[in-house]
Order: sequence, then C-alpha cells, then structure tokens
Amino acid sequence: MAVIGIMSAMHEELAAVLAQMPDEQRVSVAGRDFWVGHWHGHTVVAVLSRIGKVAAATTATVLLERFQVDTLVFTGVAGGLGLNVRVGDVVVATGLVQHDMDASPLFPRHEVPLYGRARFEADATLVAQLASATQQVLGDAERYLGLETLAQFHLSRPQTHQGLVISGDRFVATSAESHVLRQALPDALAVEMEGAAVAQVCHDYGVPFAAVRTISDRADDEAHTDFTRFIREVASRYSLAILSQWLLSRQPV
Ligand code: ADE
Repeated sequence: MAVIGIMSAMHEELAAVLAQMPDEQRVSVAGRDFWVGHWHGHTVVAVLSRIGKVAAATTATVLLERFQVDTLVFTGVAGGLGLNVRVGDVVVATGLVQHDMDASPLFPRHEVPLYGRARFEADATLVAQLASATQQVLGDAERYLGLETLAQFHLSRPQTHQGLVISGDRFVATSAESHVLRQALPDALAVEMEGAAVAQVCHDYGVPFAAVRTISDRADDEAHTDFTRFIREVASRYSLAILSQWLLSRQPV
C-alpha cells in the first residue's frame, strides 16, 4: 500500500488536512506528532514540517524512515521573487536550491558539497499533477475563498507558476535582500525556508517529492503582512483544496 507524506508548514494547514482524516492516529517521534490515517482512500501521514532547513529535513527523514512514505508533498507559503509572481498566486516547484549554501571557493556557490549539484529536482509527474490541481482550484478561487476574502486581500485572477524555488534559513523581508537573491538566482520564482532541504533528503532516499507554495508576500519591505490571517483565510484553504483535488485525481494503490 502506497503511503503519501504531507508536510505542512503551518498549523492552520495541518489542522485543515486533519479535519479530512476521520481515522487519524497520532504517533510521536523526535518531538513531532505524525498523524497516520486516510484521505480519499489513500494512506496518508500528515505532519507539521517545522521551520527552517534542519528542522524540516529531520521531519522528512522520520517520514521516510519510520513511516515508509513513498511520495512526499510539502505545502506552505513563500515570498514571491519572480517579477510576475504576485501575492495569492501559487508556485509549484520544479527544482529547489539552497540560496544560503556557499562552500566557495572549495565548491561553486550554491552547490551542496559532495552532491555535485545545487539544484534538486521535484518529481515531474507530481509537478504535473499538482499544477493541474492548482489550476483547477485557482480557476475557481471564488468558490474556495469567497468574494469577500478575495476583495480583502486584493486577489484577482490568481495564477499558477512552475519553476525554481529557493530556500534558506532567513525570512526575507527587505527589498535589498530580495534584490540580492534575484541577482544571484535570476530564475527563482519564490523564496521560503524548507523546500530545498526536504528535496535533498528525498533525493537521498530516491523518493518522489514536490512542493506547492502560496505566495504570501513579495519578500520586500512590506513582507510583514498579517500572516496568521492570510494563512487561515487564503493559504490553508488553497493547500487543502489543491491536495484534495490531487488525491482525488490519483488512483489509490
Ligand atoms: N515564507 C513566506 N514568506 C517568506 C519570505 N519572505 N522569506 C522566507 N520565507 C517565507
């Protein structure tokens, strides 16, 4: 029986997922609560990722080692870096890089030593499935968020993007810093704090991985928005709807 791991970056997202799993059982490992149950006929293990690369990598490793997860999907929010990546859009990562990895001059900047690469690829099949689920949800955003929420957050015609997501142990909240990141990694669509670390762990275990991030801010001087409200009213509803669509579109195996 296939086991799907769902790592949520935020409590509100995890709570929304758990509300769909009537039979979940809690298993505590390494100070984390893993929730094992079923959703749309799939065996699912849901867990809070925790914040930052090391914490998320540990959570991912436990999912793979102890729960034999054979597909891992991460959901959360991110700061938009790409010029047309706006608040309320969703980015499905096709590849992930640690923007704060720098062992130069021993290794090229961003390359993870001894891996011979900076970029870890997301699984192409998962990316296609999740991008399609995301497009369906965003195409009907009014149904999932309501007109009032769309208006309150000035969201109109939210878009799905696919491309590079970069991760580092820093919340990017100044225009100066996002400018530096854009110069160093011009293809980056979004910045967050976990994805590339989880992608590296999944690479080590040969387990397909994908990450879906709702853009909560533009990683600039205004990146201080009321996160709790955005997460509760926008990001966690998107994550739930995208995951639900995705699971419905997959045949349980
Ligand atoms: N997650 C959401 N917004 C972010 C930002 N601006 N920087 C890092 N992680 C984020």
